[in-house]
Amino acid sequence: MARNKTSRRNWMIGTGSSMAAAALRLPAYNLTAMQGRLLLQAAAQAKPGPAADEPDRQRRMKWWHEARFGMFIHWGLYSVIGRHEWVMENEGIPVSEYAPLAKQFKPKPFPAREWAKIARETGMRYMVMTTKHHEGFCHFDTKTTDYCSPKQGPGRDLVREYVDAARAEGLRVGFYYSLMDWHHPDGARCATDEAARKRFVEYIHTHLRELLSNYGKIDILWYDVSWPLDAAGWESERMNKMVFELQPDIIVNNRNKLPGDFSTPEQQITADKEGRAWESCMTLNDSWGYQRADDDWKSPRRVIQNLISCSRDTGNYLLNIGPRGDGSVPEESVRVLTEVGQWLRRNGDSIYGSDPCQPRRSNYASFTRKGNTLYMHVHFWPGDYAVVAGLQVPVKAARFLASGEKINFQQDKYRVSLTGLPAEAPDHPVSTIALECDAEPTQDNIFVRKEKPREGVSSRAGKSTHLQECS
Ligand code: GLC
Repeated sequence: MARNKTSRRNWMIGTGSSMAAAALRLPAYNLTAMQGRLLLQAAAQAKPGPAADEPDRQRRMKWWHEARFGMFIHWGLYSVIGRHEWVMENEGIPVSEYAPLAKQFKPKPFPAREWAKIARETGMRYMVMTTKHHEGFCHFDTKTTDYCSPKQGPGRDLVREYVDAARAEGLRVGFYYSLMDWHHPDGARCATDEAARKRFVEYIHTHLRELLSNYGKIDILWYDVSWPLDAAGWESERMNKMVFELQPDIIVNNRNKLPGDFSTPEQQITADKEGRAWESCMTLNDSWGYQRADDDWKSPRRVIQNLISCSRDTGNYLLNIGPRGDGSVPEESVRVLTEVGQWLRRNGDSIYGSDPCQPRRSNYASFTRKGNTLYMHVHFWPGDYAVVAGLQVPVKAARFLASGEKINFQQDKYRVSLTGLPAEAPDHPVSTIALECDAEPTQDNIFVRKEKPREGVSSRAGKSTHLQECS
């Protein structure tokens, strides 16, 4: 991997503490832990990165913003046990008892090819695989430890297989990497023993250097759990600096205790309050790693609704699969994802590259927007007519997105009524109607509440700029 000339300013993108360090004209890696902590506190109160850094971030994140949908893969020694990826800690399994799983871990040939094919067919545009989860087992070739796939049961580099498989399907490649490590001798004592911290930080940084040097271009670095250190302890500034030097186009998340490029709401869909980029990661059942007894699967409709909610607020949806120890994907996951993929092939125009969408009020639909087109996603089909209340702009045309079939409608100041609809939902699990508007569609339900005609009260709506009747 060719080294680039990434400037110090570039790698500091969005990292408030580096801003604070820069303000004091101090290299961040020369700070003592205490100084670093103080700077981080100051940075936490500071505004996000200077506008000058934004063009580079926008360049790096362009594909990601359009992509909207990615596949998360949690796979490790815990997949052999099948009782959740936290089994080691939550069942109190000592390292001596857990580590032999590394020999029993015998995946079938190239399981990542199956995952990548599923991801592409589901309409996902990128993948993020656990290269090392909290258990400490590395799926990549590393000079730092024998506790890795090439030197244990698999006898081969599983990260290499994953990268090749994702690329072959035209998908972007992300690496999940857990800073927390339940296996390494220094993984806990690093919090109180400076020599252990130094060794452990060197171990972690070396992994990241290996991952970002040996597999070609990598698109996302997805840090996870930073226990038991803070950003100063992990030397996160130096970490990100190395990452951007090795991979100038990469994007990084916010879980190494620096803001990074995007936020990571987990198991919930919440747009970032400060307008930063965000990605909601979510399980398909209730476990990230394979848990054989967990049958609490989300329905295809729920998954599609979630994807719509992310797209509405211009976030991404990172949806997880937890393959078994042999790499096979639980059939129930495949069933749900297949249906989602079929829907996206018909309705993807309403999701990929969507713009921020203000309308959101309906009892049976949710919305996304692209330019002046409002996509009404009907989850519960109401029958032969459907309504959007409070739309503030004239609608020019309405059609079903999947079939292109035109829909009749009437519009007055308070509602757009879509009429002559089929009695049964025309698409499954969600039917999407495209409303071509005269301008960017916005909705005002309080206008409806206040102004819609009431018995014996003369309307004040005449004063407003709202629409005239049209059809
Ligand atoms: C949490 C869990 C972890 C999972 C991750 C995904 O941090 O500890 O098991 O990998 O969330 O976001």
